[in-house]
Amino acid sequence: MFTRFRRKRHNPILRNLLQETHLTVNDFIYPLFIRGGEGIKNEVNSMPGVFQMSIDEVIKECVVLKELGIYSIILFGIPDVKDSVGSDAMCEHGIIASSIRAIKEAHPDMFVVTDLCFCEYTDHGHCGVLDPVLETVDNDITLDNLAKQAVIHAKAGVDMIAPSGMMDGMIESIRMGLDKMGYSHIPIMSYSTKFASAYYGPFRDVAESSPSFGDRRSYQMNPANRREAILESLADEQEGADILMVKPALAYLDIVRDIKENSLLPLAVYNVSGEYSMLKMAAKAGVIDYDKVMMETMIGFKRAGADIIISYHAKEVAKLLNEE
Ligand code: PBG
Ligand code: ZN
Repeated sequence: MFTRFRRKRHNPILRNLLQETHLTVNDFIYPLFIRGGEGIKNEVNSMPGVFQMSIDEVIKECVVLKELGIYSIILFGIPDVKDSVGSDAMCEHGIIASSIRAIKEAHPDMFVVTDLCFCEYTDHGHCGVLDPVLETVDNDITLDNLAKQAVIHAKAGVDMIAPSGMMDGMIESIRMGLDKMGYSHIPIMSYSTKFASAYYGPFRDVAESSPSFGDRRSYQMNPANRREAILESLADEQEGADILMVKPALAYLDIVRDIKENSLLPLAVYNVSGEYSMLKMAAKAGVIDYDKVMMETMIGFKRAGADIIISYHAKEVAKLLNEE
């Protein structure tokens, strides 16, 4: 026997020398859910450890995040008032615009990303303006609104914009809207390949964004499609996306690898709410070693080709990495 793999596995130092993939705290973006009011920090039943917070609480939370070494956050807003178009999202005094200003003022060293969509802001819970005949989102009217929303975020001082609505042409429309207003330096991280997934269930509790009728299958992707998944991301690259994304992560690691091999752009994965809750609930039931399963999951994302991991686990991962 000439080949003995175990020769390289006896010594822990050699094991470290030979480790091919590494995880660092710099890989992570941490999601935050913001609502109006003061002193609000409500834990969500379906996502233990995840809170809806008012702006003052988010500002305190940023202190904790920076101590852990996490300097990137992605914001989701829960507005006081919802309407048919999602006006709060296009208003300078809306929940997200106000949050960006307050966070950047208190923490100019924080990298603030915003999720750009309308589902949290519309009374019907869909990701844009409805076409009354088709009873689904009107793609092209929504494009204009996405560009407006992007400019509102940019004016408030956002560092990067992450459109998640899966509208055709959204990257081009947002890029043109931003550039025209003098924001050509703001990068766009596109949710470029986003599947119509039941794994978003717990998120919709936190963000209060469940569609009031139907589902999102007329704009988000069919989980069964691999070639289309690659095309979706390549189209966004052509429209000017700076960073691509696959979402969800865990059940789609083949797609992560496919896109990595078909584009030279940086790639993010969104380790979504349902993936997080599954580990939390399994830990509660005492059936897994939570920390180990979490870290194994994270290294799997990196190994598959992710450069960036958006995850509700980010704080817990950072704690473990800092102890190493
Ligand atoms: C908004 C949006 C969603 C998520 C991120 N941005 C929900 C959806 O598409 O219904 C899901 C994130 C998660 O499940 O953690 N379009
Ligand atoms: Zn949406």
